[in-house]
Amino acid sequence: MKRARVIGTGSYLPEKVLTNYDLETMVDTTNEWILARTGIEERRIAAPDQATSDMATIAAQRALEAANVDPEEIDLIVVGTITGDYPWPATACIVQHNLGASNAYAYDLSAACSGFVYALSCASDFLQAGRGKKALVIGAETFTRIVDWTDRNTCVLFGDGAGAVLLEAQDGPAGVQSVHLHSDGSYLELLYQPGFGARNQATQKGLDERLHTLRMQGNEVFKVAVRSLTEVSQEAMAANDVTSADVDLFIPHQANRRILEATAKRLTLKEHQCVINVQKYGNTSGATIPIAIDEAVRDGRLKENDLVLLAAFGGGFTWGSALIRW
Ligand code: ACO
Repeated sequence: MKRARVIGTGSYLPEKVLTNYDLETMVDTTNEWILARTGIEERRIAAPDQATSDMATIAAQRALEAANVDPEEIDLIVVGTITGDYPWPATACIVQHNLGASNAYAYDLSAACSGFVYALSCASDFLQAGRGKKALVIGAETFTRIVDWTDRNTCVLFGDGAGAVLLEAQDGPAGVQSVHLHSDGSYLELLYQPGFGARNQATQKGLDERLHTLRMQGNEVFKVAVRSLTEVSQEAMAANDVTSADVDLFIPHQANRRILEATAKRLTLKEHQCVINVQKYGNTSGATIPIAIDEAVRDGRLKENDLVLLAAFGGGFTWGSALIRW
């Protein structure tokens, strides 16, 4: 049976660093509060002339270089993002053009912080079905463009960045073992961007009310996130008849250190099994997991034959997990 195997990874983080101390000068907050409640020390901010496709393209080029693969060999590009360059067309099409991936078709996928795991699911199914040989899966966000910089409840949490994995259909046991996805639209107002889609079109009044920035009831999101991440991780392990002791690396969506630690504890995962980099980049939404994957590959933590568990949770609500034999 063919499986989607990861043959290259890449990531990109913008140069500009915004520290908690910088935020102290912008809103009524402190480094101590942010560190204690979130574990975040600093985050990256895209340059004014940088957009999501620019970061996604660099991450993708790095993944292609790592695998020594030519852009023309790619059959599919899926970008998980909710902060694309434009409402339409898809950011994935811009990336396809930038890369010169002339044989690929490309589309975006909107699942907020779960965007990468959702996109991985599409690409894995595509390869397993024999519809192509290589697929590029990207998580990329210029999330700070939809942050309300006057709202201390949310502006301290987010950052910008992109990560990419290149998948190839291969025979053998390695690759994506299974993906498990869930959604529940009843939670809309706990985490969303009210404007400027079809419901609340762009108006001066809407701009004044900052409808283009995200709204979040953090406390409520926190509780559902821990429960959902735990359950969907257990679902992946049960489906593959493995336990947390068999997992070499747990790479969850990086929203908040307390969410990650609470989830890891419920799953009885040890510290050395968990990849956490939220302190450096904050929550980059759909980009957190592929950035963390790429870091773990490049620093040697993630090796061939390792069993890797991914778990994500985000707006929608959406949540999902994937178990991968590296
Ligand atoms: N600095 C100082 N004080 C603050 C700040 C800040 N930056 N932000 C909030 N506070 C205050 C609040 O006003 C509140 O004060 P009050 O008690 O006087 O009303 C107090 O701190 C406690 O606020 P809580 O919201 O209860 O704090 P909590 O411990 O829940 O932490 C946080 C807030 C960090 C947002 C947390 O709830 C969280 O991480 N939630 C999950 C967010 C998340 O995971 N989002 C992921 C999805 S994002 C996506 O899908 C796009």
